[in-house]
Order: sequence, then C-alpha cells, then structure tokens
Amino acid sequence: MTPFPSVLESVDDLSIEQIETLLTLAQHIERDNLHLATQNSLKAPTVYTLFFENSTRTKLSFATSAQKLGAHYLDFPIQTSSVKKGENIEETLLTLKAQGAELCVIRTSENEFFKNYKENPPLKLINGGDGINEHPTQALLDLYQLVKFFGDLKSLAGKTVGIAGDIIHSRVAHSLLKLLPKFGVKICLFGPVYFLPKELGRFQIANNKTEFLKQSDIIYLLRIQFERLNFAEQKITEIKNHYPSKFGFGLEDAKNNERFFLHPGPVNIGMEISPELLKSQYYLGHQQVESSIPVRMAILLLVLNNQDSRFNKKGTNAAAINYSIL
Ligand code: CP
Repeated sequence: MTPFPSVLESVDDLSIEQIETLLTLAQHIERDNLHLATQNSLKAPTVYTLFFENSTRTKLSFATSAQKLGAHYLDFPIQTSSVKKGENIEETLLTLKAQGAELCVIRTSENEFFKNYKENPPLKLINGGDGINEHPTQALLDLYQLVKFFGDLKSLAGKTVGIAGDIIHSRVAHSLLKLLPKFGVKICLFGPVYFLPKELGRFQIANNKTEFLKQSDIIYLLRIQFERLNFAEQKITEIKNHYPSKFGFGLEDAKNNERFFLHPGPVNIGMEISPELLKSQYYLGHQQVESSIPVRMAILLLVLNNQDSRFNKKGTNAAAINYSIL
C-alpha cells in the first residue's frame, strides 16, 4: 500500500485501500479501547491544532485523539500569537516545526489553502476544514458511522444517503459527495435551489420532503451556514420563516418513515431539525462524535507513521508510537 500522504487536504488524497486500512485501524482502536501511549515521552511526536475558525468537535476530538496516542498536544493560541502582529502562516508553521512540531491540523476560511503546501510542506498537515472546500476527516468519520449503521463496508453499495440543507456552503458535503460514491453509495440531494450545487448530474434530486424520505435509506442533515450567506437581511428573514416547514425534519418524519438522521454539528435547533428529533433515538449525531475519536486517532497514526523521509528527525520519530495492531 502507498504510504499515507503527509498533507491530507481532500478525501481524494486517499486510495480506496488506504481508506479501508484507516477504517479497520479505527475499528481495532475502538473495539480494544486502545490508548497507545509512547514508551518514551521524549520521543513522542508533537501535534498542534491551528484553528482560524471556531470549532468544538473537530478541534477537541483531535486534541483527545492526540493525547490518547501519547503525543504531546498543543493548541496554537491565535489571539495571543504573533499572527496578530502580521506574521504569515508559512512563517508560523516553520516556527512550529523549529520547536519540534511534527503535525498540525489547520482550520481556515481560505478555500484550497492546502494546495500551497502539497509539494513542499513545512510539516505534516491535516485539513480540519478549509472554507467551503472540504472537511475530509469529518467525511471519513461519517463513512465509519455508516459502516457501523449498515453492518460493513460492502453493505453500503447500493444504499442511498440523502443529504439535505445548505449543501453549497458545506465543506462536509463536498467531501461526502466525493467519498461516498467511491463505495457504491448513491446520493439524493434536497434543499432550496440556492443551496444546491451547480453540477447535479451525478446525483438524484428530491422535489419534496416525502420523495426525499422515501428515496433515502439514511438522512444527513446540514445546518444553514448563515455566517457564509451573502443575502440581504430580508431574504435571511424569509429563509428563517419558511425553511423549517419545507426543509426541516421532525420526529414524525423519522418515526413514520423509520429513518435515522446524521448531522456533522453544530445544529440549528428548530431550523433543519426539531428539538424532539434531536433528543430521539433517530438522531445519530452524538454517535458520530463518539466515532470521531477512533477515526481521528487512526488518521493521526497513519499520517505520523508514514515514514516520509522529508520529516524523519533524530529523536522525534513518530514511529515511537507502537501501533502494530493491524
Ligand atoms: N463537524 C464540525 O466540524 O464541527 P465543529 O465546527 O464543532 O468542529
């Protein structure tokens, strides 16, 4: 198998074989409840998060995962850092590298930020969400959750995942639209026309909620990303008034159709999802968060241990983490 990339920008950076390995490793980690602490803390790799946009799930699950691996973990304090004096990101990353960092998970509002670093990365980089481009680690943990839901990876082929909401501004959706078809999953989209992607050719489109619920085996809800909308105030008010009845989902939708709902979070309660559905057994969002730990532990392990010779440094080799469990 080709080694894992040192810059994980997109789900397309991984082969099917690499994704299968990742899912298997995450299953081992979860099943055996593994903590993979290093034998020698001086050799433990240092992992940073550097988040220019807010986050609860992604940042803290990478933090938890790094710590469970026995890595040194630090969150880069943007507000009190020299970024605020005008230092650019490249200089920042080179500084982290000089201090011994091996890997940095970055969230940025800049689309395709990671393209700049594909050829010559200052250190190993993982995309924690870049603008509206991609959120590959969220999509990978969603795939893991779907495997749990349907039983195994093979069972996903032929199933339809319905994705509803603000698809055009969702980096998670953009990663899922690339990732799921690799495993034979069909996709049905549902939402107001201004939230649908321009290229619809490969996907089914549902005209109404009834059709959408019928066509989809499982539903993936997205919040409206109000912070990214360039609409007039009046249009925003109109959306807030009309969206819940036409495009939002409630407990009755779940019960009457026996459908389960995924959501990457955070949720806009009362907009795309009702409080009753959120509190019900049909909502799987918290299970996705649980899955994020083994999946992100597996991602960190596979990237840290990819033996990329550009990053092998005396005394700080990430292979100090023993993970020979495959
Ligand atoms: N799913 C997700 O990216 O959530 P956060 O913004 O809380 O990290």
